[in-house]
Amino acid sequence: MTEAIEAALDKVPFRITDAERIPAKRYYDEAFFEAEKEHLWPRVWQMACRLEEIPEVGDYVEYTILDKSVIVVRGREGVKAFRNACRHRGVRLANGPGNCGTSGFVCPFHGWRWDAEGDCTFVFGRKVFSEEVLDQAEIDLEPVRIDFWAGCAFINFDENARPLRETLGPIADRLDARNADKLKMDWWCATVLPTNWKLAMEAFQEGYHVMQTHPQLHAVGVRAGELYGPDGDGWNPNPNPSASEAVGLMVDFYDRCGAGMDGMIHESERKVIRQLRDMEVPDDPNVALGQFMQRAYHDIEEDARERGAPMFDVARVFAEERFKAVDYIFPHFFLLPLVSAMSSYRIRPLTPETCLFEIWSLVLRPEGEDYDTPTQPTILPYDSQDFPEIPRQDYSNLPIQQLGLHNLDEFRLAKDVEGTISNYQRLIDGYLAGLDQDLLIHANHVVNSGYDSPIMDIGFGPTNGAVPPDSTHIANYMQAAE
Ligand code: FES
Ligand SMILES: [Fe+2]
Repeated sequence: MTEAIEAALDKVPFRITDAERIPAKRYYDEAFFEAEKEHLWPRVWQMACRLEEIPEVGDYVEYTILDKSVIVVRGREGVKAFRNACRHRGVRLANGPGNCGTSGFVCPFHGWRWDAEGDCTFVFGRKVFSEEVLDQAEIDLEPVRIDFWAGCAFINFDENARPLRETLGPIADRLDARNADKLKMDWWCATVLPTNWKLAMEAFQEGYHVMQTHPQLHAVGVRAGELYGPDGDGWNPNPNPSASEAVGLMVDFYDRCGAGMDGMIHESERKVIRQLRDMEVPDDPNVALGQFMQRAYHDIEEDARERGAPMFDVARVFAEERFKAVDYIFPHFFLLPLVSAMSSYRIRPLTPETCLFEIWSLVLRPEGEDYDTPTQPTILPYDSQDFPEIPRQDYSNLPIQQLGLHNLDEFRLAKDVEGTISNYQRLIDGYLAGLDQDLLIHANHVVNSGYDSPIMDIGFGPTNGAVPPDSTHIANYMQAAE
């Protein structure tokens, strides 16, 4: 790392100097929050909406991030994004979702109008203005960069940011292979958590919490890796199962996971998996699990195709792509992929100690299927019993973790499985330090490496305990992108 990079990082308040320890003030300090507002959010691609929210010409949504508001609108020429402000005297034009119809966006103050392409179509009493201030380009809505991936519109306020696809890195290919762009909503909920946005995200970046937070899942855990030993400290609840016990546990795991998420594992998939509980398997539990998974993927795919779902080649994709139960997309978006369904999270800061947390349950629906697309999330209290069990369990920790952090200088991470937390926090430091785009893009690719990652060398900042990322994969991608 050069001295210039080190000097820039050194100016970041509460910067991370030890990759395994995170300063607590990053989660509530006003100056840190302001630094994120100034240096992070204006420079990153942000998932602004799902495209199915705006199916018709004229449909729009308002995407807000802190004090910034963007209109994402479907025009005749496709979906565009504009700063949500009247070009006369600044009134916010869109408030929530809607359709701008034949009249377009009408400013309620003095009645200026814009069509869905953002073109200013009407100025009341033009002659009372100097001609120069009504230059057409200056009174059309101000465009914001927009790009599309996985059925979503992403916006970026930075004109110089690299293209979305290049920023996402290999994760985009991994999820494209699973037809992420064909997913459609099943349900959409939101809540306000009394928690810093980063803390909320971190609850979904590791599986280490499953044993305590989701005991119903841990109880049917099988295939615990060598990392934790056969039993030892309680990580592996079912050591040495017989072959049929192992299959039974796996069936229960998928069943409970799908029920607890009310999604991610489609009801029809759970049904298919339940039918395999008594399948014939050889005595070796590892071989048995392998055969069970093969059969499950095959049967799930066949069943989904029969339903008319736009399926991918499940066996091939699972063989080629390393499976991650949660795929994190920096800075504030998640996809939790399985087979013909996924869950998806987006977490936005509201204040230093509150955030807006949204969950979508997504499914690969048959083309042309008639269904009701929610246009707004159902907003619930975070402790509402209407949230599915698993997110409710996750939410229960967060407000008390936020409180606890006020009584601590720093917290510690497991270098082997809580690395994503350190990796993305160090990337935030890179943005706050204003590091070069090449470095940030490379770090984005490392950070977008999914659930349970180890602490990795992201290319700058402290690397104690860090392992190199899967660099060949990233290098190949970078080469392909050039
Ligand atoms: S402020 Fe919008 S028309 Fe005047
Ligand atoms: Fe969880």
